[in-house]
Amino acid sequence: MNLINKLFAAPVAMLALWAVSAQAATNEEIAERLKPVGEVCIAGQECKGVGAVSAAAAGGAARGGDEIVAKYCGACHGTGLLNAPKVGDSAAWKARASERGGLDALLKSAVNGRNAMPPKGTCADCSEDELKGAIKKMSGL
Ligand code: HEC
Repeated sequence: MNLINKLFAAPVAMLALWAVSAQAATNEEIAERLKPVGEVCIAGQECKGVGAVSAAAAGGAARGGDEIVAKYCGACHGTGLLNAPKVGDSAAWKARASERGGLDALLKSAVNGRNAMPPKGTCADCSEDELKGAIKKMSGL
């Protein structure tokens, strides 16, 4: 082996070792390493990570309709954005309630979302009771 070859041999061997160890990381291992940073939540499924954090932040106690409306629903229902029924427009809410089949039917479409109305009205950690309280507050039903 001449000197040039000897000089190249060591770095090439190091590079090969590095490549092998990089290949050894499986997708699962990578996913596991990324986990604390980001967790995918799919619409319509319970998102445990987020729920646990926000339930803890909320102290676990149910929040009142006023608070939920102010924080989440008012953004659209306050002004009737995207044709959302307005807070206090009881006629509009009544018409919807009788079309759908009552307050519980409205609650169901609030939970699932409806057209431009996002599921749970963007309050992902709201319980059904909290959403119902918010609907009652906005509709006067
Ligand atoms: C991003 C805007 C937006 C936010 C935020 C929002 N809504 Fe809505 N909401 C809408 C729109 C738009 C409609 C009308 C949907 C339709 O019938 O096409 C609607 C309709 C509704 C209805 C009537 C559903 C029906 O079956 O007619 C209920 C109940 C409701 N929202 C509850 C809530 C509650 C409770 C919150 C807060 C937790 C909330 N919304 C937050 C936009 C919003």
